[in-house]
Amino acid sequence: MLKFLKGSIIKPTVTSGLLRFFPSFDLMSFEIISTLAENYIGQHTSAEDELLKKINKETVENHPLAHMLSGHVQGKLLSLISKILAPKYILEIGTFTGYSALCLLKGLQSDGELHTIEIRQEDADTALSNFKFAKNNNLITLHVGNAKEVIPSLPHEWDLVFIDADKVSYIEYYELVLPRLSKKGIIIADNVLFHGQVLEQPIKGKNALAIDAFNEHVTNDSRVEQVMLSVRDGLLLIKKLE
Ligand SMILES: C[S@@+](CC[C@H](N)C(=O)[O-])C[C@H]1O[C@@H](n2cnc3c(N)ncnc32)[C@H](O)[C@@H]1O
Repeated sequence: MLKFLKGSIIKPTVTSGLLRFFPSFDLMSFEIISTLAENYIGQHTSAEDELLKKINKETVENHPLAHMLSGHVQGKLLSLISKILAPKYILEIGTFTGYSALCLLKGLQSDGELHTIEIRQEDADTALSNFKFAKNNNLITLHVGNAKEVIPSLPHEWDLVFIDADKVSYIEYYELVLPRLSKKGIIIADNVLFHGQVLEQPIKGKNALAIDAFNEHVTNDSRVEQVMLSVRDGLLLIKKLE
């Protein structure tokens, strides 16, 4: 039984401004990853399973914010990382329609728990109806509420954390989960390139500014090591130093 607790595809196009490192470069239509490369990458990544394909399609057809879904290539990366890590406790911050939760679930230990938090009831309802079709869905607990309140109420030491909710709170989420990250644990933060807007100078918009502040925060944190990947909208993989 599912536990239900109350509680681009980007081709990042910088539409204005200048690249921080190339101040004389006009970026009206600069693509970080070309469509050609995106297509090639997609063609050489294992296909989505039927359930993920269905969730992807239905989200694109029915949700006005469908671009928020992790999608094929990022989803496969999340599931491979999960399979390699074999986590016992997974935390996801920002469930949306449940796509990435089901990718992360693929590597979870058979006696493990995946906790995912969503603030919007409507999205939580959609995720829940999607989870019903998934193998091992009894290992998922969906919390409906504000992650800032839910995270401190969860007792676990996390092996895998996916931060993918409101961008202005990334530093807060990071500081909440880092002390409870296990020795082998990894935090993955999504959208760290924020549609290329973090490359503009000056950076505009509160979300891009918040993401840039988060990236700087992690870069200057002597407790961790990290790598930034240009997958989709940018991923930051973070591990605590021993
Ligand atoms: C980018 S979407 C998540 C996408 C999903 N992880 C995926 O890859 O399919 C971000 C989600 O976080 C939710 N959210 C925003 N602020 C939140 C908060 N404070 N607590 C919990 N969820 C939040 C939003 O409602 C939205 O559904």
